[in-house]
Parts: sequence; C-alpha cells; structure tokens
Amino acid sequence: MANGGSEIFLDTYHIRGGYYLNGEVALSGAKNSVLPIFAASVVTGAQSKIVNCPEISDSENMRDILKMLGCSVHKDGGTVVIDSAQISAHTIGEKLMSTMRSSVFLAGSLLVRCGIAEIGKPGGCKIGARPIDIHIDMLKALGAEAEENEGRVVLKARKLKGAQLTLPFPSVGATENTIIAASCADGETVLSNAAREPEIVDLQDFLNRCGAKIKGAGTHTVTIEGVKELHAAEYEIIPDRIEAGTFMCMAAATKGEIHIKNARPAHLETVSEALEALGCEIRTTQNGMWIKQSKPLRGTVEITTAPFPGFPTDLQPQFTAAVCAAGLTGVVREKIFENRFGYAKELNKMGAAIEICGKNAIITRGHLLKGNRVVAEDLRGGAALVTAALAAEGDSIVCGTEYIKRGYFSLDKKLRLLGAEIKEHNG
Ligand code: EPZ
Repeated sequence: MANGGSEIFLDTYHIRGGYYLNGEVALSGAKNSVLPIFAASVVTGAQSKIVNCPEISDSENMRDILKMLGCSVHKDGGTVVIDSAQISAHTIGEKLMSTMRSSVFLAGSLLVRCGIAEIGKPGGCKIGARPIDIHIDMLKALGAEAEENEGRVVLKARKLKGAQLTLPFPSVGATENTIIAASCADGETVLSNAAREPEIVDLQDFLNRCGAKIKGAGTHTVTIEGVKELHAAEYEIIPDRIEAGTFMCMAAATKGEIHIKNARPAHLETVSEALEALGCEIRTTQNGMWIKQSKPLRGTVEITTAPFPGFPTDLQPQFTAAVCAAGLTGVVREKIFENRFGYAKELNKMGAAIEICGKNAIITRGHLLKGNRVVAEDLRGGAALVTAALAAEGDSIVCGTEYIKRGYFSLDKKLRLLGAEIKEHNG
C-alpha cells in the first residue's frame, strides 16, 4: 500500500453523518483470539475445528501462513478446519512479519513441532515499533537457542524445558507465545506477570481442549504442566470485545440506542464505566449488552490505557472520537503503544481540537464535527474515523478501509442495519 510515502488508498467508506444508530448488532468472533488459536493449532499435529471465526483479512492472512507451512485449511463461513499433521516449513519471513505481526505467535508452535523456527524482523506499524524481544527472551528461557542476524532470528530447541518465568511487562503476545511453547515442554512452567486479557483465557481453553494442562490464564500467574502431545479438538471463539466496545462508542457518538448481541459485560467494565460517567445508559441483557445515549454526553474526560482489566488501548481511538463528537474536553493517556494518536490529525480536519503532547492527547473544545475526506493509518484509528463520520454533519470519505477490514467483518453492512448511511467504494 505504501507508495514512496504518499500512500494510495483504493477502498473508501462514503458516510453521511447525523443518523442515530438504532437496533441490534451481532458480534463476530474475537480477532485477538483467533490469531493465537490458529497458531496454536500447529502444535497439535491433528485436526482442529474452530467455529465463530471472524471473516476478517487478518484471519485470512493467518490461514494463508498456515497453508504455507504445510497445513491443510478449509473455511466454511465462520468455521475453519485446520489439519496440521504435515508441517513442511519453519520460516516466517520479513514480509509476512511486516504485514502480519501476529505471525510471531508461530515461533512457539514451530519450536515445539519442528525444533526450529525462523522469524523475520517484525515490521513495526503505525502505532509503534512493536519489537519481539520479550517473545525471544521467554523462548530462550524455555531452553531455545537464538541466533540473530540482520534482524532475522533463528530459534532452535530439541526439547523445550519448563521454567519459572517472569515477564518484564504483561505483553499479550509474549504471554500467548510462552503458553503455546510451554504446553509440550518437559516439566512445569510458571509464568508470572502474565497479561490477563480474555483472549488469553480463550487460548488456554482451546489448548486444554486439545489435551494441554494449563491453569491461571486471566490472572497474573499462568501454570503450564508440559504434556507429551496434543490432540484434535473442536472449539468456539469468544465474541470480539473490541468490536463490542467500538459499537458502544459509535452509539455514544450518534445519540443512538443499540443492543450488542453476545457482548460480555465482564470484558468491557472499564469502557462501560467511562461511557456511563459521560451519561450513557448501559444494561446487561440476557444475551448481550444494551447501550443508550439519551441525553447529551457531559463531563470532562480523563482516560489512561492499561493492560486488561484497564482501559483497552484498542478502544482508545474510538472513545476519543466519541468524546470529540460530543464536544467534550479532557485528556487521553496512551500507555501501551508509543504512537497511537495518528488518527487525531484526521479528526482535527473534521473540526475536533486535539493536541498531542508525547503520549497524551489533550482534547479541547472543538467545533461540532463536519464531514471531510480523512485517511486511516491503522485498524483502530480507522474505526475512530468511522465513529466520527457517523456523528459529523454532512458527508465524509474515509480512505483506507483495507486497514479497517483487518479487524471488522462487514462493518458497513452492520452499520447500515443500525440505520447508518454508509457505502463502500472499491478502487
Ligand atoms: C496484542 O498485541 C493485540 N494484538 C493488540 O491488538 C493489542 O493492542 C495489544 O495486544 C495490547 O493489548 C493481538 O492480540 C493479535 P503487547 P501485542 O505485546 O501482543 C511492547 C488490535 O488493534 N512489546 O501486549 O503485539 C509493544 O511494543 C491490535 O487489535 C515489547 O516491547 O501487544 C507494546 O508497546 C493492535 N517487546 C507493548 O509491549 C515485545 O516482545 C504491548 O504489546 C512485545 C511487546
């Protein structure tokens, strides 16, 4: 997509703002669950039938990587069957790593299956450098030898050995990679300062369904008793809490009323608290969550992103867009990634008044948002631009829907069903 710095965006959303979102929307499966679970299926050497997979481009890219490694992969709607009996490659090249950073999860799986994994230098992305040093350190602590040259890392281990490990930072991916690698190591691994995201619990539950012996996911300490091998299993992916939170921010931005089917309140506590503090009504229903923004949002915002159960960095852009749409002021502090405010200059083109100071966004009272042509630079920044365009007066063109479709399945269709005027134009 990059083209000498001036990026050309072929796909766009045309949005006419000012419509209240009303009705019910059903969540897709969690992107940040399906990626590590697909990678973990390589460890089993058997057939994994995974249902409620989100039909998003990141999921498709990971399926393509599994096929490149020798797996057979069949998709039928949201059901994906992976047979990892035959693994014929162990290299994840630089290009793959730059387009799909999540392919780093395969390092643990390939080490277990092949005793070797070759990982290309992770291309950072717009939101930060996103190194994989913690991943490598944990795999080395499990007994892998690591050889680095020109940014590529070759990891080797005849048999990984359980160990007492402590993460320097509760990295989601490093927690997941370590759990995958330790699942068939010799002996017990105790991982302290682990990340606690719900997607890590999902990975634990999938691996245990395949015969692993893991407990403690969702807490700071995960214990993995290595087993000899894993076996075939069927598994259902949890609903996507970030998609749910995105729709909550869109309801808040458009004075809407939405029922979000399958949303799990326990996955969204800090987001619900932040939106209720601004005047949103949020209820738990029998099969999801209901949100209504009946009166103008009010108050001053002060949000700091943090590892789960803190305010999720993946909803920071969308929440900021809703705050700007409501004409509120405040401070948003981004503590997870070093550069996750790329969308702010685009919101300012719509009338927002956001000033970036280091890793803080200072939101002062801007004008009511007006439609404009804006450009997405990353997945959640793109979702923020859509959120703002839905609330803005007049028409907007959001360029770069390729980014948005990495993490949202049929977002335009789901929004039209809620009453939005949104249409995708390709090329
Ligand atoms: C996962 O990324 C998610 N992706 C991200 O979602 C999410 O934003 C992030 O966790 C934080 O919640 C998937 O699960 C596929 P980290 P991950 O390791 O694992 C630094 C989205 O929009 N770090 O917790 O890459 C890193 O640079 C995506 O859905 C190291 O320094 O996140 C970052 O600053 C975006 N060295 C911080 O830790 C390492 O070896 C958190 O990263 C690893 C991470």
